[in-house]
Amino acid sequence: MSNKINCIGVLTSGGDAPGMNAAIRAVTRCAIYNGLKVMGIYRGYKGLVTDEIVEFKTQNVSNIIQQGGTILKTARCKEFMTPEGRAIAYENMKKHGIDALIIIGGDGSLTGARIFADEYDIPCIGLPGTIDNDLYGTDSTIGYDTALNTILECVDKIRDTATSHERLFFVEVMGRDAGFLALNGAIAAGAEAAIIPEFETEVDQLKELIQNGFRKSKNSSIVLVAESKDTGGAMHYAERVKKEYPDFDVRVSILGHLQRGGRPSAEDRILASRMGAASIEALLDGQRNVMIGIHEDEMVYVPFAKAIKKDKPIKEELVNVVRVLSI
Ligand code: F6P
Repeated sequence: MSNKINCIGVLTSGGDAPGMNAAIRAVTRCAIYNGLKVMGIYRGYKGLVTDEIVEFKTQNVSNIIQQGGTILKTARCKEFMTPEGRAIAYENMKKHGIDALIIIGGDGSLTGARIFADEYDIPCIGLPGTIDNDLYGTDSTIGYDTALNTILECVDKIRDTATSHERLFFVEVMGRDAGFLALNGAIAAGAEAAIIPEFETEVDQLKELIQNGFRKSKNSSIVLVAESKDTGGAMHYAERVKKEYPDFDVRVSILGHLQRGGRPSAEDRILASRMGAASIEALLDGQRNVMIGIHEDEMVYVPFAKAIKKDKPIKEELVNVVRVLSI
């Protein structure tokens, strides 16, 4: 591919996240401001393969900064995982004169970008769009703050009924294999405990914690549980606690996909706008195959390989805060 970039394609991929629209808007407007042509690619990589590509002008992204979801739609595309699928995608890119791609999505989406960029020497820039906050090299991801606030709203409501009935609630939150939503959600909601895949939690530990609370006149408890294939999530813990400690009146609430919807928070809109603008500046600066991150309030470039290596650390300090504040 030639080094000169005249036209970019933008897509959203994987699970949607509040703030993706703000990111699409920022990418589109910043690119046009810099004299680039913008092509919106629908349904993530699927739209590259099936040629659902249209030119985006500034009006295409008007009145979307406040909307949840993604106007470009999103998908997880099996075909793009095959060399044949990517070959078709490349042909479609060429057909539309797209020289570079901006990919807004999570680790799966950036993994796809990395492979595609290597195979066809295409400049790709990623924006971390996922409620999970599990990408290495960025303090936050687009959608995380909004999802956290949604969790708080729900847990505050659950607390009302938990208190009235003197119950122990296990509230399951998303995060795939990462515990950021559960842990910070627990701190912000004043939950008694957080169960996250990064740190082991035994049922005995839970019992002690909860019983201590009840003894000290707490009449209800809330435990946030990160969804996890390994631990079995909230249901698993609830069943075990019920079986081993029948005195507790246990209930489970799985928050599910409502965590992915809603108007993006101010923080997510600002983050998405800054990252969108930074992605175009990065491209024009000659950056290739990096994810835009935020670290200490500065925009940073994180190579794809680092961003997706799945070991973003969780601070033990946060785990201690939940423990200490639940007395
Ligand atoms: O990655 C975002 C996420 O919401 C995860 O937290 C969750 O495990 C997954 O997507 C759910 O995916 P789907 O919408 O395909 O069920």
